[in-house]
Amino acid sequence: MPNNLHTLPEDWIEEVVNLAAECMVVVDRDGIILYINQAYCEFLNVTEANAAGRPVQEVIENSRMQIVAKTGKAEVASIHPINGSEMVANRYPLFVKGELVGAVGTVMFRNPEEWLDYSRRLQPLLEELKYYKTKFEKELYSKYHFGDLIGESPKFTAAKRLAERVSDSHSAVLLLGASGTGKELFAHSIHQASKRNHAPFMRVNCGSIPEHLFESEIFGYEEGSFTGAKKGGKKGKFELASGGTIFLDEIGDLPLQMQTKLLRVLQEKEIERIGGRAPVPLDVRVIAATHRNLEEMVRNGQFREDLYYRLNVIKIDIPSLKERIDDLGPLAAMLLKKLEDKFHRPKIQMPEETLSLLRKHSWPGNIRELENVLERAVNVMEGTVIYPEYLPLYLQEGKRQSSSEDPHSESWELFGRKPEPLKETMQKAEKKAIIDALAICGGNKKEAAAVLGIGKTSLYEKCRLYELSGKELFYK
Ligand SMILES: Nc1ncnc2c1ncn2[C@@H]1O[C@H](COP(=O)(O)OP(=O)(O)OP(=O)(O)O)[C@@H](O)[C@H]1O
Ligand SMILES: [Mg+2]
Repeated sequence: MPNNLHTLPEDWIEEVVNLAAECMVVVDRDGIILYINQAYCEFLNVTEANAAGRPVQEVIENSRMQIVAKTGKAEVASIHPINGSEMVANRYPLFVKGELVGAVGTVMFRNPEEWLDYSRRLQPLLEELKYYKTKFEKELYSKYHFGDLIGESPKFTAAKRLAERVSDSHSAVLLLGASGTGKELFAHSIHQASKRNHAPFMRVNCGSIPEHLFESEIFGYEEGSFTGAKKGGKKGKFELASGGTIFLDEIGDLPLQMQTKLLRVLQEKEIERIGGRAPVPLDVRVIAATHRNLEEMVRNGQFREDLYYRLNVIKIDIPSLKERIDDLGPLAAMLLKKLEDKFHRPKIQMPEETLSLLRKHSWPGNIRELENVLERAVNVMEGTVIYPEYLPLYLQEGKRQSSSEDPHSESWELFGRKPEPLKETMQKAEKKAIIDALAICGGNKKEAAAVLGIGKTSLYEKCRLYELSGKELFYK
């Protein structure tokens, strides 16, 4: 049977064309309209009978169809002013048996709103794609190794040595340490140093998976095991980690019911998909981590004792930054190197007075907090030297933050640093404005006061308050 448009009933062809291109026009070599479809006529507010046979530029304002029909050069996604708005049009030369016979025009978007609406609908899809792509890459491959773990203090070295020694064992590892101490880095490094490093490293954040999704995420499911189950079923994290390592992060946040399910897998060393038939034997190394006090949770009935013992075969305590304050210098140096690359600011220096202030702090947010403090300093500083004034005020004053006295310490640890009181925030903004004004005016206080719109006496007072008399700051 031949396959061309003539095999279609005649009255179908019109409909097919209308569906394929909502607005369409065909002209001959002289730009005379041979055909224009209903949708285009409605858009132009003309009748088909009126439009056919007329020069295209008379019917379609600003048309270039007659030009394309002559030059034979296509114009794709061309902006076309029409009816006081702009549409996006495609114009293609029409070749029949190798000869240019005219042109075909279609409209992609009738106005910018249509295009915007389309791109608005596309945008979340693109973002979603990007999100899953990075998530997938991040989860599947471990990025760090022991060489990335900076620190020479005895406690840290002991933890690192133990982790290195046990990396090739099959036994479960439990990483304990406060927020931001490097638990995730340790987990990556252990996997990387093991013979499993060619297989996946799967991270599961036990605190963030909704309870009703936990089972299908962790164990996977067979096709048709529940309504909404995907065709072909889905592999769970344990199966995906096969031959490699599963990192159960924030294990202390796992709800009790889920703890029971996890325990069963660890005990039986086999995994059963939801709705699955035969259980599959499991070859996965388990590393768990938490900043919580699991022993206390066990005592309070919040964490299953039997699961705790299963996970706690090799316990590694990662010291807080405060316990290894001598490592702060090398850590800061490494972090500054990273920041130099990130912000394209070479040769950043940190004078001893800044370092000694940093050493006085108690660092409840540990290395993540240090990272944040340094990144902030690099953002606000002028020049290449991190003077103490580029540190947050709570560090400049060398105040000790005692997390045990602060009822919000846990929640602000999550953000990396504590929000400052409003007064301090405003003072900092004021100080920064004065520094900027003085720098712009080359240290001339009279001019700076004028720039700031305040009196000279008031500026003198504020300079005294913020100890801003040092001219060296402005004459670098
Ligand atoms: N010893 C180290 N050397 C270099 N960088 C480190 C070290 N430890 C931690 N970091 C850096 O500090 C940051 C926090 O580390 P990580 O995410 O591993 O902490 P965590 O203990 O998992 O924290 P949380 O409990 O908040 O999840 C990371 O950006 C990491 O690169
Ligand atoms: Mg972590």
